[in-house]
Amino acid sequence: MRLCVLFVVLITTVTARYMTNEVKYADSDFMVKQKAIFEIFANIWQPEIHNSYYDEAKNFNYLTIKDKITNEHAFECFSNCYEKGFIGMEDIFSPLQKEHNHQMLAVFKMLYYAKDWDAFYNFMVWARFNINPGMFIQAVTMAVLHRDDFAGYILPAIYEISPYYFFNSYVITKARRIEMMGYESMEKVGNVHTYTIPMNYTNYYIKTNPESKLAYFMEDMGLNSYYYYWNMDYYGYLGGDQYDLKKDRRGEFYMYQIRQILARYYLERLSVGLGEIPEINFWSTINTGYTSNLMFYNGVNFPTRTNYYMMHLNSDNSRYVDHLFGLERRIFDAIDSGYFLKPNGEKMMLDKPESIEYLGNLIQNNKDTMGNTYFYGLLETFGRKLLSGSFESIESFTRIPGVMELFETAMRDPMFYVFYKRITFFYEAFINKMPRYKKSDLVFDGVKFESVEMDKLLTYFDMFTADITNAVDVALDTQDNIKSKVEFKAQVPRLNHVPFNVHMKLTSNKVQKAVITMFVGPKYDSFGKYIDFTQNRNNYWEIDRWIVDLKKGANVIDRKSTEFSWFVKDRTTYYELYKGLMTAINGGDKFPLDMSEAHCGFPSRLMLPRGRVGGLPVQFFFMVYPYHAPSVERFTGFDPSVSCGVGSGARYLDSMPFGYPFNRQFEYHFKLTENMILHETFIHHKANDEIMVPY
Ligand SMILES: *[C@@H]1O[C@H](CO)[C@@H](O)[C@H](O)[C@H]1NC(C)=O
Repeated sequence: MRLCVLFVVLITTVTARYMTNEVKYADSDFMVKQKAIFEIFANIWQPEIHNSYYDEAKNFNYLTIKDKITNEHAFECFSNCYEKGFIGMEDIFSPLQKEHNHQMLAVFKMLYYAKDWDAFYNFMVWARFNINPGMFIQAVTMAVLHRDDFAGYILPAIYEISPYYFFNSYVITKARRIEMMGYESMEKVGNVHTYTIPMNYTNYYIKTNPESKLAYFMEDMGLNSYYYYWNMDYYGYLGGDQYDLKKDRRGEFYMYQIRQILARYYLERLSVGLGEIPEINFWSTINTGYTSNLMFYNGVNFPTRTNYYMMHLNSDNSRYVDHLFGLERRIFDAIDSGYFLKPNGEKMMLDKPESIEYLGNLIQNNKDTMGNTYFYGLLETFGRKLLSGSFESIESFTRIPGVMELFETAMRDPMFYVFYKRITFFYEAFINKMPRYKKSDLVFDGVKFESVEMDKLLTYFDMFTADITNAVDVALDTQDNIKSKVEFKAQVPRLNHVPFNVHMKLTSNKVQKAVITMFVGPKYDSFGKYIDFTQNRNNYWEIDRWIVDLKKGANVIDRKSTEFSWFVKDRTTYYELYKGLMTAINGGDKFPLDMSEAHCGFPSRLMLPRGRVGGLPVQFFFMVYPYHAPSVERFTGFDPSVSCGVGSGARYLDSMPFGYPFNRQFEYHFKLTENMILHETFIHHKANDEIMVPY
């Protein structure tokens, strides 16, 4: 236990931030707005609560802001939806359901096109009491993330806004039961009544099948939040010049993210003794079921998919399985014939490695695709709906969505990875047609990677606490500042690791700018067979890529895991954020806009797979290659100390393909070039008697 305390100290004293080290603080105007954003999300799931916002909402009519909505079409669309009627406050919002999504976008666009803060604020306050909370949360989240003038605003973590999608019904029910007993039954910390509820992952309660071993990974809050925010940033229905997402190579990024998720997941599987990610045939039995133990706000349970499920026999879905099959065929045909069809029937070529951008957009079928959206269809949406195992037909309006149908919960289900692996087959089919990397493509003349040393890699579980107060309704007349009176917390073990250093030696024949990239992959497959470098391509998980200034001669480079630029630390709890803001408003310590917790970063706790007590053999791959400046200089058009720069076209450090050099195949008999090096080591896991996480 003493060891753990030390780790915590180490972790909290580092200051690395997503892409930057600068910290900005909120000014008073900013804080007023930030306060409203925090307060509007407090108890957001409770349809009615008589605070001051409620009174404001009552006196608001959306027609009064008509001329403050800068996009006429957006206003009209909302107005039409409103007259027709939105889904009810206690209905279950399901973003993959066409009409739900249409309504959500109508709300989002009112917020996005609101001319000034007042219009945004008034509409948001009104919508909080009049629009379904699930829909409201997604619309406001997307509006805050996508409005350029909102850079820096902090949203509470999604798992604290919507605890229903992250904490099981045992925890939610327990919190509600405690609340019924009155706050007096709760311990008081300072002025705040506090209650902490421990939680375990689903496999503590039920072992559904061998895949349940990974519940601690698949149900990790940071992992699921990361996926959620990625989808909010690059939401398929946003596209075109207004959002500029295509500037960020969104199609290529989509494929890369999927490949990264799978590589990371495979390392976790090997850690617990599971083998390859299985493959499926839509027409045969799906052996792996999943039950989440989650429930929606209204008390309805998430559907369970039993083991040995058959998609096509469920709810007459068989014609949809046919359709899904058809969509896949069309994409394979496009790849194999080297082009896809645009809406007007013209050909769009897929003939060079960069065409991956168009292929990614086509598969996601997002608004920036140049393909015929009807012909290529919503493959991912269809697949997730069919696999999710909900009872009603996928087109039913009243269908209860399964975990794979919500962005907050999709990664819990083992079938999510199986389906994503299937999507990577498109990538492989495409890459198969592209030239293989030759030695001459990858060498870096005059630069040599001499050696790498790394600290011992050690993972462990520690306790993580989140604020789940939003899962508990409060008395109707609760006045403002509810967040400062009572706090329910959930406590759950999470994978973590001891920070480590990487010590590298390189030589260069001249002074030059270069890029170093670092991946980790398995050494053996689940049968204990050594995986050859060229065969391991898809299994490498990229953990860092950064720019270095090489000197002439010997170079010694040290890199700390806490500096890896893609990772972020755990979020400050909603309660602490709110408290910090109120302190700043009242003249105390300033409120930091902290990019060390940026929504777009991957949880640093999950950087390394669990490994094994006796050590999981892995190989780290390093490569140094010449710096190729991106077409727009990095961080142009946005401030990296407050923003992730989504849609700026200036997020990436160089112009190389994502995942380079593993984005393409290597020539047969490829040998590592001098600017590459493999470092073999082990990832150890430290068992802890006090925090048991079964697998
Ligand atoms: C969680 O698991 C541990 C053992 O791993 C057990 O002692 C504890 O009672 C469990 N708690 C809950 C709430 O399930």
